[in-house]
Amino acid sequence: MHALDALSREAREAIRSAASVDELRDIELRYIGRKQGKLTAILRGLKDLPTDERAIVGTKANGLRIEIEKLIAERMSAMKGAHTRSQLEKEAIDISLPSRRASRGHIHPLTQIRREAEKVFVPMGFEVVDGPHVESEFYNFDSLNIPIDHPARDFWDTFWIRQHPRPTNPKQRLLLRTHTSSLQVRYMQSHQPPFRMIAPGPVYRYEASDASHDSEFVNMEGLIVDKDISVSNLKYILLTFFRTLLAKDVEIRLRPSFFPFVEPGFEIDVSCQACRGKGCAICKQTGWLELAGAGMVHDEVFRAAGYVKNEWKGAAFGVGMDRIAMMKYHIPDIRLFRENHMKFLEQF
Ligand code: PHE
Repeated sequence: MHALDALSREAREAIRSAASVDELRDIELRYIGRKQGKLTAILRGLKDLPTDERAIVGTKANGLRIEIEKLIAERMSAMKGAHTRSQLEKEAIDISLPSRRASRGHIHPLTQIRREAEKVFVPMGFEVVDGPHVESEFYNFDSLNIPIDHPARDFWDTFWIRQHPRPTNPKQRLLLRTHTSSLQVRYMQSHQPPFRMIAPGPVYRYEASDASHDSEFVNMEGLIVDKDISVSNLKYILLTFFRTLLAKDVEIRLRPSFFPFVEPGFEIDVSCQACRGKGCAICKQTGWLELAGAGMVHDEVFRAAGYVKNEWKGAAFGVGMDRIAMMKYHIPDIRLFRENHMKFLEQF
C-alpha cells in the first residue's frame, strides 16, 4: 500500500510537469505500459498476495490505473487542443437519425389555371402583361366607352377609393379595377399594333357573394389588334383555349350581348364539363356555363387610345378564371378559393 501511495504521487507529479505529448507517452509506458509499467507489475503481482489483501490492494491499484489513464488523456487533449477518444464519444451526434422532412408547398389551383392559360396563349404569340389593380376611373370606365352617369356603369358594382379632396379628373379618381379590360387602352397607348396580349389578374366587385360570385376573382383579358381581325379569329382562339384547358370535345356558344367597349359583343358559354352538358349544380341545370365576355373592339376605344379611325381592327375577351377552375376541378363554391382551408387546398 505504501508503494502504491508513492507511485501515485510520483505519477501525478510526472504527468503534471510533462512538457510534451511524447513525454506523456513515455509516462504512460512507465506506469501503465503493458510490459514495463510499474503499476502493471503491481497488478500482475496481485495473484501472489493473500486473498484478504488482494482485494484491498487490487481495488486501489485498479483505481490508480484508471486515474493515471484519465490524467494523461486530459493533459494530452489539452496539449493537442484536440479531443480524446472518450470526449469524442461523449459529444458524438447520431447522424444516422433520419432528418425531419421539409414539407413541400404546392401551387394554388387558381395559379395553376393561370399558368396553364399562359401556356396556351404564349405559343400563339400573346404577351402576358399586368397593370395597376388600384386603377383610375378613366381606364376602368371612360376609356372603355362607359361615361360617367351612363347606366352601363351599373354592370360593375365598384369599390371606390376614398380621396380627399375628390379629384374632378377621371384619370385621377381611383377604384379597384372591376375587370382587366382596364388594360385595353393602357396597352394600346404604350404599344404599336399589330399585337396580341393577355392580362390575367385579380379584379374586384362590390357585390354580395354566393356560390358563383365573389368580391374578388381572377379575370383574364385578351386583346388582339391587327389589320384584319374578325369574329372567326376570336371564336377559334377561345375554342382552342377552352379545349386545351378543359377537354378536347368542349363546345362553346356565342350569345349576343352588350358591353359598351365592343361591337358586336358576346357572352361565351362553354358546355359544362362537370356534368358533360346534362345539367348540374355548377351549370345551374342548363348544361352551359358562362365563362367569358368578348367582342370586336369598339371605335370609341380606339379613339380613347389615340388611334386613327378605321386603321386597326381588334378583338377582345375577358375570361373568368375562377369559373374555369371550378369546372375543371368540380368545385361547387367559388368562395372556397379564398377561404384558405388546408383541407380544400391540399387536394390540388
Ligand atoms: N370586361 C368584361 C366583363 O367584365 C368582359 C369583356 C372583356 C367583354 C372584353 C368584352 C370584351 O364582363
